Amino acid sequence: MVSKKAIDFPHTRPYGAGLGYRRELSQEFTMHRKEIDVVEILADQWFGDGSLAHLREVAEEFPTVVHGVGMSLAGAGRVPEDYLAEIRKVTDICDAAYYSEHLAMTHVPGLDSGHLCPPVLNEESLRICTRNVDQVQSALGIPLALENITYSVSMGADHLAAASFFAELVKATGCFILLDVTNLYINAKNHSFAPLQYLDRLPTDRIVHIHLAGGVVTSTGKHIDSHSETISNDIWQLAAETAERCSPKSVIVERDQNFPDLHALVEEVARSRDIYFPQGC
Ligand SMILES: [Fe+2]
Repeated sequence: MVSKKAIDFPHTRPYGAGLGYRRELSQEFTMHRKEIDVVEILADQWFGDGSLAHLREVAEEFPTVVHGVGMSLAGAGRVPEDYLAEIRKVTDICDAAYYSEHLAMTHVPGLDSGHLCPPVLNEESLRICTRNVDQVQSALGIPLALENITYSVSMGADHLAAASFFAELVKATGCFILLDVTNLYINAKNHSFAPLQYLDRLPTDRIVHIHLAGGVVTSTGKHIDSHSETISNDIWQLAAETAERCSPKSVIVERDQNFPDLHALVEEVARSRDIYFPQGC
């Protein structure tokens, strides 16, 4: 049973635009405090009393949104309660309005794939995803925002069917959507479909969070979501097109490799703010 709190979004005011938080760059983040509206905390990196004490300091300095990678919501197993208890400590410290996770399978009981795999697109899989999302929303007491992932191997010939599956899950659970614009762009390029047709199948009024990142293209022409490069003009263009269709609460620029001077990232944050919050936030 989904709680009422899990369906109603508790904050109406946008957080704005920001960056994924890097602990090793805490001083630089502080130096750029006025240019960063919000930071995204990767919950799985903050488990343990020592980390949580540091997290309290970050949450006092910045508005925070919380993201995770370990739930395997599309996996056959239930989400472990002890894992959810650790996540709850992080979301409580951050006073999180929602928790974002990937619509993906990373492990099933006894087997870890080591990376994000897309959900199987059938009714049994939808039932399992619904059960897991309901469980997490009840345990955390806040809504989930599910993220579209990139994939190399499709679960079917119709790539837009993945959007319909996503929409059914949102409808069944009352959860929200994290639209990763770069992931949408990459899937559309790698699998030859129109990104806005994918978006047309989603309940765009449920998009509360945006990810933007720069990727690479291999010698065979495959696009990779590497989070290692400057955001390309094609992705900025798609971002502008998505901004006409949704009103997110926060936009996060993701960068995990090939880390530049923070000033360069803050410029991308400013550009994303102009696109998604043209009236200010
Ligand atoms: Fe993302």
